[in-house]
Parts: sequence; C-alpha cells; structure tokens
Amino acid sequence: MRKILKWVVVAFAVAFVCAQFYRPAMTNAAVDPSRTVEARLRVTPEVQSILKRSCNDCHTNQTRFPWYSKVAPASWLLAQDIREGRDHLNFSDWASYDEEEQDLLLQNICRITKRGAMPLGNYLYIHHDAKLAEADVTTLCNWTNAERDRLNGK
Ligand code: HEC
Repeated sequence: MRKILKWVVVAFAVAFVCAQFYRPAMTNAAVDPSRTVEARLRVTPEVQSILKRSCNDCHTNQTRFPWYSKVAPASWLLAQDIREGRDHLNFSDWASYDEEEQDLLLQNICRITKRGAMPLGNYLYIHHDAKLAEADVTTLCNWTNAERDRLNGK
C-alpha cells in the first residue's frame, strides 16, 4: 500500500514538473495613452479606482501578474481569463470601439455588475478586496449612464 502511495506521489510530482514547460504567453502589450478609456471618456477618480481595484487585471493591458501566474496549472486558467476578458472588453484600447460598441459595453458594465457577475468568482476567491459593494455598482452605473447619454448626444 505504501509503495503504491509513493508511486502516486512521484507520478504527480513528475506531471507537475512537466506541466511547467507549457507556458502560456502572459504579457502586457504596450499601452498607448491616447487610446485608453481615460483618454476617450470622462472617467472620475472614483470610477477609476473601482476599475483599477476590481476590473483592470482582466480588462486592460496593465495586468498585475501574481507569482502563481508562473506556476501551472494556475497559469493556464489565469491566461485564459485574461485573454478572454481583454477580448470582450479592453479599457487600454477603448479607441478600437465604434460608438455602437462603446454604448453596448457601457450598458453591459452596469448590467453585469448589478447582477454580481463581475469580477469573476474565481478572481474574488483570491482578491477579496475586488468585490463590489452596492455603492460601487451605483457609482459605475451612474457613470455608464452619463457617458451613454453624452455619446448619444442627450
Ligand atoms: C478574472 C478576470 C476578470 C475580472 C477581474 C473582471 N472580468 Fe469582466 N470578463 C472576464 C471574462 C473572461 C469575460 C468574458 C467571458 C464572460 O462573459 O464570462 C468578461 C466579460 C465582461 C463583460 C462583457 C463584455 C461584452 O462582451 O459585452 C463586461 C461588461 C465585463 N466583463 C465587465 C467587468 C467589470 C466592470 C469588471 C470589474 C468590476 C470585470 N469585468 C472584472 C474576466 C474578468
């Protein structure tokens, strides 16, 4: 029995070491300050601080990579969330969205945070301080509503 256990442990150790060779590309592309959401919309310091605390790790090119982002299999999961998050919404490249896309994204920021669906649950598991309070959601929604009105010329 102890012999089997020993081999199981060895097998896991070997698998863990081998897994480290599969490294997802995790980088921050250079940010052009003239293309960011801050450059394109009116972002109050209050909104900026909420985004920074709770969203920017997955929705900008200014991700803070923690130490475990270098260790498989955590690195694979993280890379996937960041790639998908940036694909859907990238505050660092806000200039790439036309008016319709901006309107939809702003609308979704309010809707999704009201539902409590962002930040993602697995992120909150580690980043407790990223959880949005009700007041944070209100601040975000007031901001997205005001910016949508402005974009739509109201
Ligand atoms: C751990 C990474 C992570 C964090 C942190 C995070 N998101 Fe996301 N977000 C994603 C991923 C992945 C998707 C795409 C898949 C999905 O919808 O679940 C997404 C999708 C979205 C979308 C949908 C975009 C579209 O296509 O319309 C919005 C809006 C959004 N996030 C807003 C936020 C906001 C606001 C915050 C901060 C309060 C936040 N997210 C924090 C990973 C993250």
